[in-house]
Amino acid sequence: MRNPERVRGQLVELAKRRGFFFPTAESYGGAAGFYTFGPEGAALKRSVEEAWRQRFTVKEGNVEIDAPTVMPEPVFEASGHLDTFDDMLVECAECGASHRADHLVEGHAEIEEAEGLSPEAIADLIADNEIACPSCGTALAGQPVEDFNLMFETTIGPGSGSPGYLRPETAQGIFVDFPRLAEYARGQLPFGVTQVGRAYRNEISPRRCVLRVRELTQAELELFVDPEGEGPDLAGVADVELPLLSAAAQRDGESEPHTMTVGEAVDEGVIANEWIAYYLGVATEWYESVGIDPERFRLRQHLPGERAHYAADCWDAESLVDDDWIELAGFAYRGNYDLSKHHDHADESYTVFRQYDEPRSVERATVDPDMSYLGPEFGADAAGVADALKDLAGRDPSAFDGDTVTVTAEDNEYTVPADRVNFRVETVTENGEHIVPHVIEPSFGVDRLVYTLLDHAYREDEIEGEGRTYLALDPTVAPTLVAVFPLTDDEQPRANEIVDDLRTAELSVDYDDSGNIGRRYRRQDEVGTPYCVTVDSRTAEDDTVTLRDRDSTQQVRVPIADLPRLLTALRAGDRSFADLTSEFPVVGSGEDDGSADRAPTPTAEDPGEE
Ligand code: GAP
Repeated sequence: MRNPERVRGQLVELAKRRGFFFPTAESYGGAAGFYTFGPEGAALKRSVEEAWRQRFTVKEGNVEIDAPTVMPEPVFEASGHLDTFDDMLVECAECGASHRADHLVEGHAEIEEAEGLSPEAIADLIADNEIACPSCGTALAGQPVEDFNLMFETTIGPGSGSPGYLRPETAQGIFVDFPRLAEYARGQLPFGVTQVGRAYRNEISPRRCVLRVRELTQAELELFVDPEGEGPDLAGVADVELPLLSAAAQRDGESEPHTMTVGEAVDEGVIANEWIAYYLGVATEWYESVGIDPERFRLRQHLPGERAHYAADCWDAESLVDDDWIELAGFAYRGNYDLSKHHDHADESYTVFRQYDEPRSVERATVDPDMSYLGPEFGADAAGVADALKDLAGRDPSAFDGDTVTVTAEDNEYTVPADRVNFRVETVTENGEHIVPHVIEPSFGVDRLVYTLLDHAYREDEIEGEGRTYLALDPTVAPTLVAVFPLTDDEQPRANEIVDDLRTAELSVDYDDSGNIGRRYRRQDEVGTPYCVTVDSRTAEDDTVTLRDRDSTQQVRVPIADLPRLLTALRAGDRSFADLTSEFPVVGSGEDDGSADRAPTPTAEDPGEE
């Protein structure tokens, strides 16, 4: 029986000891919420990012950009992050510890989602539930609960410079440069832009290693669509089964997901937006392909109070880690919120031209103000009054029905006689219109995914009476695909040649000649290396080696010349190790290697000559 608390301790210890991740700058006391991915973790993270890129950028026909992580203040004024990217903070009067107030309430009161409540309501709940400081036990009742902005501020340029912020999401780097990206896409919707990179959030309570950090990696896709345009082709994902926990089901007190296909979820209106349904299907398959356990995976719709300021609808991909559901990714329908905000604040247009199927005749109100009247009458403000009249004609032609018309320019009101504005309504032919595209956003957290993959891959078993810990990582993402061992010093040159050949075939390879062979296998098992090759005395005679499978510990005897081809196929999932056991002689696990007159070939669990 898996004990989540114990596995968590083992996993964190393993991650640190074997170079997956560890707190940054520990020798200087560290800084909460900052982690370094060591050699194994960085390799795993890179593989995950590459797998994401292949699926969400390359296969979808999207493009990837690489924007700066620092942007000037006006970007975040426009995006709404300066005003609303807050979490609720409560500080302990006794020990000074800071806590995320909504999380404290969720942990103590019968409330699952406190994020949507006001700071005052949270303060009341803290008092009513007699919630104490988790650090020192002092009652927090009466302590103010305040909004705390999560962005890291910096200064751009020397001296006082100008204010800038580290981006809190990679998405803004895409939105802010939409005019150029739309030009690159020749203004054709839909088009998608991805970015994999760092984002920064000054989290109030970073916790659980890389699950909540202050510097994180996101992999985000912003898909720009015409809300009246065609939806996605659902054929490729229609049969993908989604474990859905809708907002309605949650309101009814349900906690178990209902499994239905993408096609059913769209037909029954459980997922309102077809693009969101499409990407939930793609992501569900993708998560399984990199090693997320489907039994510990669900798609949960946000409750209205939970949704971010920009989202019209949002589903989270969640995974069970140590008995807690962790948000791995969000799939938000952001409407035209982001581009409209930038359109209103920036100097450029964030629209694209929507071509009509047929030209349309439309009535358009225009004015041609008499400047020989406006000039002497309004002086320096005359041009502004003329612009205001043109704008009003477009917005509200009925304003020109009377004898005079009043407009506001430069914060002053001006009244103009109707016969001086030359108002008329013309019938014109239009070929299209400018629209602000809507955004569909699948947004993935990479750090959390790496941790979850390790958690879901963590295994303990016994080999010939000895305990073993191993990570059953999928070969597509494992930091190392194959480790090569010479059994004795004599085999080292040949083993090194094999390493070179496998690296030339672009496979990730480790070489290890230290310690007995059983210990070498254990080391690779612990970092999740799926395959090990052992070069032994027989290799010099027939150019074969043993190839050992991490999970089953079975071994087959294969020609060296076949290794690159076989390992490439195993990594791609085109073949399984079970396939190889019917094609090549099985050795080890008590089986004969087919050479009765030779000494038995050393096997994974039988160090042989050693
Ligand atoms: N652009 C949308 C956006 O940023 P989000 O839900 O705030 O949405 C997306 O973040 C993903 O980033 C989350 O699902 C999560 O996996 C990851 N994430 C967010 N904050 C994180 C943190 N402090 N530490 C680790 N991962 C985080």
